[in-house]
Amino acid sequence: ITVCDVRPDRQSAETELAARIAAQLRLRPDLVLGLATGNSMIGVYRALVGMHRKDGLSFAKATSFNLDEYCGLPVGHPASFAAYMREHFFAHVDMPPGSAHLPDENGCADFEAAIAKTGIDLQILGIGRNGHIGFNEPGAPVTSRTRVVELAAATRAANERDFPAGEAVPTHAVTMGIATILSARTILLLATGAAKAEALAGALEGPVTPQNPASFLRLHADVTVICDRDAARLL
Ligand code: GLP
Repeated sequence: ITVCDVRPDRQSAETELAARIAAQLRLRPDLVLGLATGNSMIGVYRALVGMHRKDGLSFAKATSFNLDEYCGLPVGHPASFAAYMREHFFAHVDMPPGSAHLPDENGCADFEAAIAKTGIDLQILGIGRNGHIGFNEPGAPVTSRTRVVELAAATRAANERDFPAGEAVPTHAVTMGIATILSARTILLLATGAAKAEALAGALEGPVTPQNPASFLRLHADVTVICDRDAARLL
């Protein structure tokens, strides 16, 4: 069952996602979160950090697993998802560093084993313009688990803006697989902006196919899509 919650604009979609995460965390302080990066999520983390500061929302007992990471970047590289998470979230909240798990190209099996111990209660997702979730590009099998993948040329082009001028986007990344994502108890997908409209319409109304990895979310019983009007344009 997939529910689609269309909000008037980008900011209200981001705020809605943050509010849903906060509500789950208040019910279960030891929530296991699956976290995503990307531009779409920056406002979500800003809102969560705001609730931590103003309303005492605590992540002290929470655990997190990030979806994906580039391969081959030096530690601390500004375009790494590790740096993104530190900058936008971890540096500003009270989650113990040992509770935040980031995938590592050399530790895919360990990462899966750590997830398997508790499961993921709430997985948040963005969506790529080609329907990718995490870095599961078109063609990703529904049975896939955390592994190293080759990035699509379109994805590398879209993410070029995150890298210093003249520096190439890595060709490979490590990502949770489709099966890893589908094992989460609840999934919340955020899609904002007209550039996501086609991928979102395909995911929700087209065939369930590896050609649009987000379409596999329709196999899950508890998915909510939160989007703005621009992203919902073709629904
Ligand atoms: C990125 C990430 C995804 C993200 C997607 C959309 O490269 N690997 O997890 O959801 O592409 O990113 P954005 O929100 O910047 O459009």
